[in-house]
Amino acid sequence: MNGKNPYLPYPVRIDKITVETDDRNLKSFRLIFLKKEDEAAFQYTPGQFAELSLAGKGEIPIGIASSPTETGHLLFTVNKAGVVTQALHEMNEGDLMGVRGPLGKGFPLDLFEGKNVVFIGGGFAFTTLRSTIQYMLDPGNRSRFGHITVIYGARRPGLLLYKETLKEWEARDDIETHFTVDAGEEGWSGRVGFVPAVTEQVAPSSKDSFAIVCGPPIMIKFTMPVLTKLGFTPEQIIMSLENRMKCGIGICGKCNTGPKYVCKDGPVFTMAELNQIPTEY
Ligand SMILES: Cc1cc2nc3c(=O)[nH]c(=O)nc-3n(C[C@H](O)[C@H](O)[C@H](O)COP(=O)(O)OP(=O)(O)OC[C@H]3O[C@@H](n4cnc5c(N)ncnc54)[C@H](O)[C@@H]3O)c2cc1C
Ligand code: FES
Repeated sequence: MNGKNPYLPYPVRIDKITVETDDRNLKSFRLIFLKKEDEAAFQYTPGQFAELSLAGKGEIPIGIASSPTETGHLLFTVNKAGVVTQALHEMNEGDLMGVRGPLGKGFPLDLFEGKNVVFIGGGFAFTTLRSTIQYMLDPGNRSRFGHITVIYGARRPGLLLYKETLKEWEARDDIETHFTVDAGEEGWSGRVGFVPAVTEQVAPSSKDSFAIVCGPPIMIKFTMPVLTKLGFTPEQIIMSLENRMKCGIGICGKCNTGPKYVCKDGPVFTMAELNQIPTEY
């Protein structure tokens, strides 16, 4: 966190903007800290988020899509949803903005050590899964984790994020990938099918495994019974919530669900934890 004032953003420059999807509604922003000491202070773990601030527009919580092993920049992938995200989409490479964080609790990497990890993602909720997968595949980290399976789906091929990175993962032999689309189109030779159905077909073992599930509510709803059938217990299923937020640091009360503040106690929770609180996801 940024020195004494938790509300003060670090100044960053937009280094690169990548249009991720053919409808142009999702763009990735590679950000570079203006000051080296700020970069050193921003120590994050996969699964954490940050507040992106645009002068005169406001702040938005966005999951960190880069991995801490990808040094020198931060990556955020943003869906054009409303006022602030629209303004961000209109910015250009070289423009300045602010980043406040890192915020929240990331994925429990220590718990994953020596275990198999199954990533199940849908739509643009794949951002922090990208961070975690890149982290685990780093040569310095790969041997700490067991088998890695990635099941990732989008409505159609043009909506899959990180297409170059997906190709790199497919070419490796230390990660099992299953990319799928709800509806295929010309040129798509990959899978066609909904994420829950593909999860059932692939049937990842629940033995010594954790499943991380991030996606739209409908995907989560239909994936949970599949995981249960495969033997995953609520303690072995991990999710990340995206409740509305304001302060991001457990003060304003905007994000609470039951006794938990999603910004501070989460956004990462096990299914066992979520079963104890009234949650919509
Ligand atoms: C921890 C966390 C991580 C997130 N990570 C990402 C990410 O990686 N990429 C990304 O594109 N978005 C992410 N979001 C959602 C993002 O914060 C909202 O889309 C954004 O705040 C909308 O701001 P806006 O000013 O553009 O929209 P507004 O003008 O405020 O609202 C426009 C529309 O978006 C809806 N909306 C606003 N906030 C949310 C929200 N939190 N969840 C669902 N709907 C919302 C509103 O109901 C409204 O319909 C994340 C949210 C959280 C809490
Ligand atoms: S956003 Fe303020 S308490 Fe969580």
